[in-house]
Amino acid sequence: MTDSWATFGADLHLETTGSTGLRTGLMDALREAVRTGRLAPGTRLPSSRSLAVDLGIARNTVADAYAELVAEGWLSARQGSGTTVARRAEPRPRPAARRTTRSRPVPAPPTHNLRAGSPDLSTFPRADWLKAARRALTAAPNDAFGYGDPRGRIELRTVLAEYLARARGVYAEPERIVICAGFVQALKLMGTVLRKRRVREVAVESWGLDVHWKLLADAGLRMPCLSVDGLGARTDELSGLRGAGAVLMTPAHQFPTGVPLHPDRRAAAVDWARRTGGLILEDDYDGEFRYDRQPVGALQGLDPERVVHLGTTSKSLAPGLRLGWMVLPESLVEEVAEAKGLSDWSSSALEQLTLAEFIASGAYDRHVRAMRLRYRRRRDQLVEVLAERAPGVRVSGIAAGLHAVLELPEGSEASVMRSAAWQGLALEGFSRFRHPEAPPGRDALVIGYGTPTDSAWAGALEALVRVLS
Ligand SMILES: Cc1ncc(COP(=O)(O)O)c(C=O)c1O
Repeated sequence: MTDSWATFGADLHLETTGSTGLRTGLMDALREAVRTGRLAPGTRLPSSRSLAVDLGIARNTVADAYAELVAEGWLSARQGSGTTVARRAEPRPRPAARRTTRSRPVPAPPTHNLRAGSPDLSTFPRADWLKAARRALTAAPNDAFGYGDPRGRIELRTVLAEYLARARGVYAEPERIVICAGFVQALKLMGTVLRKRRVREVAVESWGLDVHWKLLADAGLRMPCLSVDGLGARTDELSGLRGAGAVLMTPAHQFPTGVPLHPDRRAAAVDWARRTGGLILEDDYDGEFRYDRQPVGALQGLDPERVVHLGTTSKSLAPGLRLGWMVLPESLVEEVAEAKGLSDWSSSALEQLTLAEFIASGAYDRHVRAMRLRYRRRRDQLVEVLAERAPGVRVSGIAAGLHAVLELPEGSEASVMRSAAWQGLALEGFSRFRHPEAPPGRDALVIGYGTPTDSAWAGALEALVRVLS
């Protein structure tokens, strides 16, 4: 009979459950841990004080949960030996899936959301979009309702060419643009085309989004990674990657570190591409949002024949639109258009015409300007509040975009994440964005300050500060 023990909340691996209330949630999680044998009979539980600290909740909540579970027979409490898992609480294997649906713990819907990756969805310019949609539909020629050019509607490609040249310094002609379903489809199409060209490897940044890596892997590509430091991706490492036929980068605002790529490194990437015949896939996901000065121009402007510029409306308007664009080297247009045609023929003509109208009317510029101000205000509030109430936390990556990196004391990321979950605060740890081949990085959080609605922002910020201070 072992007297195993769990001194810290971390050892318990407790997950929040779908129950309402922290006490009920904790009770459900403990019951589940006992039921499945994760907490064996005889296991000594942490003191209510230390578990409360670990989970960032009130000590009374833990003490009450323990007391009720003692009363139910799951736990026993003896003077002097603390709280242990009751010896008669025999672990039982999880019942079959159908019977568990009622009791299986599911993550509680968080009250606050500071996950990176989304703009404030409540700001979608519904009235202006509706106006643009009405105008677009009224003016649409009959051929808009037929099968069109897989590259997309010429009306949208024409206004985009003008917009991208003006706002992002992209060398764009309508003939080089392919409209697609967001960055994700652009990457998928590029993966297909590169594989057809017998490219086997696409280098990626060592910190980024796993869904993008999965897309490339799905196309049959290997992904060696470039280190990322305070100046962005280490483009000097490209010359060591002999097999790489392309590199995927976020030059304007590295995701997730938030660093703009240093000018020397921008030049080095282009030099590499010219020297080796490689391609740079430029993910310009939030390039419009730069706060301290003019946005950094797109890398594509340096060499439109070696850089594929990939843009999206997911940050500037809404991810639900699923509208993005590729500005391609001339030599790639035909192949990419063919891949788009084989994938879904073309993106929805009416959505494209609406976006064309929305941009041409000036509504897009107005919206981006207004959102830039709003996000900048939030970013400033985040920095101010943390400086005041969590001065040990350093904020970085804040010159642009909708997210910031909060650097934590070493070894604390996991416990801060657990504590946030128990406070009903959804956020993401920095480690979630590590490429599998990259060495572990610093302990940090990636905070999407653009995500909450205006009315939810203050509450989310307060919950964050509570977790950190
Ligand atoms: C790094 C990065 N690239 C691209 C995107 C946009 O993807 P999509 O246009 O498919 O919505 C996002 C959105 O969260 C992102 O974080």
